[in-house]
Amino acid sequence: MRDSDRLIVALDVPNALEGMAIVEELGDEVTFYKIGLGMLTGGGLALANELKEMGKRVFLDMKLFDIGATVEHAVRGLAQFDLDFLTVHGDPYVVRAAVAGRGESATKILAVTILTSLEREQMDEAQYRDGTVAEVAVERARRAFLAGADGVISSPHEAAAIRALPEAEGKLIVTPGVRPLGSEDNDQKRIATPYAAIMDGANHVVVGRPIRDAKDRRGAAQAILAELRGPMGKNSKK
Ligand code: C5P
Repeated sequence: MRDSDRLIVALDVPNALEGMAIVEELGDEVTFYKIGLGMLTGGGLALANELKEMGKRVFLDMKLFDIGATVEHAVRGLAQFDLDFLTVHGDPYVVRAAVAGRGESATKILAVTILTSLEREQMDEAQYRDGTVAEVAVERARRAFLAGADGVISSPHEAAAIRALPEAEGKLIVTPGVRPLGSEDNDQKRIATPYAAIMDGANHVVVGRPIRDAKDRRGAAQAILAELRGPMGKNSKK
């Protein structure tokens, strides 16, 4: 993996034109992009294709959740887009169906543990089991790995505990909820700096608004890439 692939920039804009404008503004240094549900009706899949043709890596954040047969069909169709990462909810039957649908394609299936915006109160409302957010997230990650997920999406606060699981050997941890020092929290509740997330075992960090909303987007992305390389570039060979 290229060093720059550690940073995944979320293109959280409504359409492909606006997405491509950000990609062009960020230039060669940013090599990995996330396309989410917000752009689905605005040409998100066409943009995914275009990005792949430009040599970028693409993470399609669909957070699929349905009966197994439907998830399998959806993933089989999406895998034709040569995506690098695709998300599904971490329920084991959903993960198993996604892995079956992905077939021989190189698309990595990432399981969502607990959305990083959630707090225990909202988990109670949704009838999640007892335990702290971290406990539930780590156990969901473990079960997703056992079901065949290539990796998980987790808050940086759970990254270290997930990395320590024997089941996490060789698996990917991707963390949103990352904020460079001195930036706004927005609605992210369980945040950490990009460097801390990587030190805790994350392979990639996802950053959206701190770049999208910056006056100097390119400068903001470069600062995060520098932070990810760590003091003296110490992460650069990992
Ligand atoms: O907060 P930010 O704009 O950096 O979000 C980047 C990505 O992280 C979003 O595209 C979304 O998928 C995810 N996110 C999240 N929890 C939130 C807000 C966003 O995991 N509270």
